[in-house]
Amino acid sequence: MIRNIVVIGAGTMGNGIAHTFAQSGFKVNLVDVSQEALDRGLKTITTNLDRILAKGNLTEEQKAETLGNINTFTALQDAVSSADLIVEAATENQELKLKIFGQMDEFAPENCILATNTSSISITKIAAATKRADKVIGMHFMNPVPIMKLVEIIKGYSTSKETFDAIYEMSKTLGKVPVEVNDYPGFVANRILMPMINESIETLYNGVAGVEEIDTVMKLGMAHPMGPLQLADFIGLDVCLAILNVMYDGFKNPKYAPNPLLVNMVMAGKLGVKSGEGFYDYSEGKKAEKVAKMFLK
Ligand SMILES: NC(=O)c1ccc[n+]([C@@H]2O[C@H](COP(=O)([O-])OP(=O)(O)OC[C@H]3O[C@@H](n4cnc5c(N)ncnc54)[C@H](O)[C@@H]3O)[C@@H](O)[C@H]2O)c1
Repeated sequence: MIRNIVVIGAGTMGNGIAHTFAQSGFKVNLVDVSQEALDRGLKTITTNLDRILAKGNLTEEQKAETLGNINTFTALQDAVSSADLIVEAATENQELKLKIFGQMDEFAPENCILATNTSSISITKIAAATKRADKVIGMHFMNPVPIMKLVEIIKGYSTSKETFDAIYEMSKTLGKVPVEVNDYPGFVANRILMPMINESIETLYNGVAGVEEIDTVMKLGMAHPMGPLQLADFIGLDVCLAILNVMYDGFKNPKYAPNPLLVNMVMAGKLGVKSGEGFYDYSEGKKAEKVAKMFLK
């Protein structure tokens, strides 16, 4: 029976995951190495609950209950001693995740399931950093977590059927739609999304059309709610580059090679929304065409 949840990392995804579990009645220990990140995470959760409340989909009591279900910690060891499930959502860095999984394995109860929200790192590799590979699994939530329905449930090479079934069923109790996926680079979501984003950047790079034009074609022509270049800005261009590199290395296939414009933009610190500029300019609330000017007369 899964009751006590630990979420590692209080950033974009971690606070959304903690919010989602807490609102569904689970006790959540939220861990981050940074007290500032924990404070920011709790503030985001409160703001998001207020938004749901304003829409009439939550009562004041439910809001208080949800916040009351969350406790914060800066030391992993203190947070995991009675965990049934730990969902790791720390920074996307392989070395860091291997280290965190080593610690989770050492300090969490024997039966605790260890899940990761990684976008691209091999579940099988992460599981190998523990002595319980059968209890390691991918739980790939989408951003923003409280709103997006999908969770990719990724089975590592050694993930047991028991672990998979427990996580698959538990995801439904969160109001999510779980989808079973095997552990290969990019899983399903990013394997399909990232080549589309990369091809959009290639189309821009080749001067076929500008930023707004490419996004408009995909929005109005394919009924996508957001154009691929704007979506890349929201995800973070550094994250897109990292995922493409994992697929390029993993499949040894040139079709996943990141476009040089993407590489250049990341080197220049143009990471999208989070840095204030990517394919669009987000400074002072603007959304103006930027990069296309480099290529189109
Ligand atoms: N951002 C997205 O759209 C998205 C979508 C799906 C999956 N993911 C995945 O979710 C994970 C988190 O991404 P994010 O966008 O929330 O990152 P983020 O940078 O917003 O947050 C990461 C947090 O992890 C904390 N952290 C770093 N080392 C830690 C440690 N040792 N222990 C505890 N906390 C630690 C950082 O202080 C930070 O607050 C990554 O694996 C990423 O690939 C991200």
